[in-house]
Amino acid sequence: MIIEPRTRGFICLTSHPTGCAQNVKDQIAYVQSKGKIEGAKKVLVIGASTGFGLASRITSAFGSDAATIGVFFDKAASEGRPASPGFYNTAAFEEEAQKAGLYAKSINGDAFSNEIKEEVVNLIKEDLGQVDLVIYSLASPVRTHPESGKRFKSVLKPIGEVFTNKTVDFHTGKVSEISIKPAEGDDVENTVTVMGGEDWRMWMDALKNANVLAEGVTTVAYSYIGPEVTKPVYRNGTIGAAKDHLEATAFTISEDLEAIGGKAYVSVNKALVTQASSAIPVIPLYISLLFKVMKEKGIHEGCIEQIERLYSERLFGGDLSLDEKGRIRIDDWEMRDDVQEEITKLWEQATSENINEIGDLEGYSLEFFKLFGFKVDGVNYEADVNELVKIPSIQ
Ligand code: NAI
Ligand code: NA
Repeated sequence: MIIEPRTRGFICLTSHPTGCAQNVKDQIAYVQSKGKIEGAKKVLVIGASTGFGLASRITSAFGSDAATIGVFFDKAASEGRPASPGFYNTAAFEEEAQKAGLYAKSINGDAFSNEIKEEVVNLIKEDLGQVDLVIYSLASPVRTHPESGKRFKSVLKPIGEVFTNKTVDFHTGKVSEISIKPAEGDDVENTVTVMGGEDWRMWMDALKNANVLAEGVTTVAYSYIGPEVTKPVYRNGTIGAAKDHLEATAFTISEDLEAIGGKAYVSVNKALVTQASSAIPVIPLYISLLFKVMKEKGIHEGCIEQIERLYSERLFGGDLSLDEKGRIRIDDWEMRDDVQEEITKLWEQATSENINEIGDLEGYSLEFFKLFGFKVDGVNYEADVNELVKIPSIQ
């Protein structure tokens, strides 16, 4: 079939297998261009099919020749209906890994469940024995709790009071003012239940109890802080409460892993275009200004540049450079004073009339479409493609 992007608001309903595969190949080529990293050799990535998790899997495999197991929740294609992008990304990743002689297997299912944890434990036992790195990179709006069976929903709201600020519709370039109502009822607790650290700890417990963690294992989860302008809706909002919990959980897990010399870290990453961040008001305007400023300064990074730098300079580079709260800060360039000062100035000025000049809306929009395999360089979108791609290890 010929597949075109079909967007509805901040989501895209279709995705392109050749474009997704090209994105994966481009990320692999980037990692290879940076040279080898003396890193972990047996790696489990939870949330491995898109964004930072996919970049982590690629960096482990093609930077350190690691065997990887990837866990994700993606939709396979049906006749005339493309798969979700993570499905196509993983199919392409496994094919490239096979060609390079690297072990790669994937499990598609709900990572929050006991069943998927058990499946992963069994797969590690059978194929790898133990893993020496566990990347936790889930981003989900919902979680069914494995003990109660109750389904929790996360929300993106400020806490305490209404937050009013500017935002941009990146499809139209319209800059407008938006007000977001504060959290109510169980909003904060529910968001912490979904995006906090409980499930990360459950994973590490399950892996440790099954004796599939190697001596000196490292586990890393990803967090975000961001600038003053987004604080009320992000870091001081419901999602920030979940990130506080995730960051605190790193210390608990480190204690749990003490007996095997293991360590848990949180890495604070930079803001990037993802489906989730496109849906948070205010953030798209911030990101479009951030892209403009960082590109002008020659320090722009996407997922793969961020994770390659995290591995080569921090995790396996001998200098974690932890902040006062014990976190790895690979958002260091985003948070530089000169970058943030410039964005603050531009923020004041931003209107529908000037946003295309002072912000990188084009770059934002391009990145959005690229998430789904569209507008990728070198891909012929007129060509007939088979949407029914399979992931080699899942048949
Ligand atoms: P993403 O949406 O690109 O990736 C999420 C992954 O989790 C996908 O592989 C998806 O299949 C998987 N997943 C979701 N629900 C699942 C479930 N129930 N079971 C199994 N797999 C499931 O997200 P992204 O942006 O890479 O985020 C990953 C982490 O990085 C999150 O903790 C996020 O808060 C953090 N982060 C994101 C930033 C951004 O700007 N996007 C900035 C800094 C940190
Ligand atoms: Na991810």
